Amino acid sequence: MFNIQDLILKVPNIMSDQECELLMNYHKEHEKESILENCAEANTGIDTQSTFKCLSLPAKSKEHELVHKKTKAMVEKWLLYLKQFKAFHLPLLSKCLNFSHMYRLLKYEVGAKIHPHSDFSDYTYASCTFNLNDNYTGGVFGFWNSQHTVTLKKGEGMIWPADFFWVHEVSPIKTGVRYSTNCFIQSVDADLSQEMNEQIYNQAAARATGHPQYFWHKEIK
Ligand SMILES: [Fe+2]
Repeated sequence: MFNIQDLILKVPNIMSDQECELLMNYHKEHEKESILENCAEANTGIDTQSTFKCLSLPAKSKEHELVHKKTKAMVEKWLLYLKQFKAFHLPLLSKCLNFSHMYRLLKYEVGAKIHPHSDFSDYTYASCTFNLNDNYTGGVFGFWNSQHTVTLKKGEGMIWPADFFWVHEVSPIKTGVRYSTNCFIQSVDADLSQEMNEQIYNQAAARATGHPQYFWHKEIK
């Protein structure tokens, strides 16, 4: 058998030092355009702001093309890696890993972190990150409220499943600055997934009352 954390694949040195530099420089040049993000804290469900500075890489830029190429390689490596377990429905998974929602470039300064959350969304089946430097302290990647922690080196990639069981966080940076990229891997493109989610959930809510197979809306906090 396997442990759940074995579904995480880390790939060292998938980005060269020069490639990491290119991406970090892009953030330095465009930092003024960066934004803060928010998403639900996994333990409370409360919408919470993250404190990293986030930029989206424009399509067709060389930085976008680089992260896209490396992400494609990560997806291929992950499918091959998962094959060795002889346990999963990989023909189906491979059909669902078609698009990245976008490519984000993240800068974590001292004190910056992201709270425990999951990357779950309908049509999203994996998350992928690249660590662009490692000359900082803190900034530890933790799964399941940090019951499992992962240290990532400069140029290292990591890919893992993206649903509500895969709660993860990055602990506050203690010294230095951490740069990374992140993306969600989806079966349909980002615009379509958003459109479909809105339509489906609105229609499902409208049809729920009186539906013979409806459970109930039960939120656990
Ligand atoms: Fe995440």
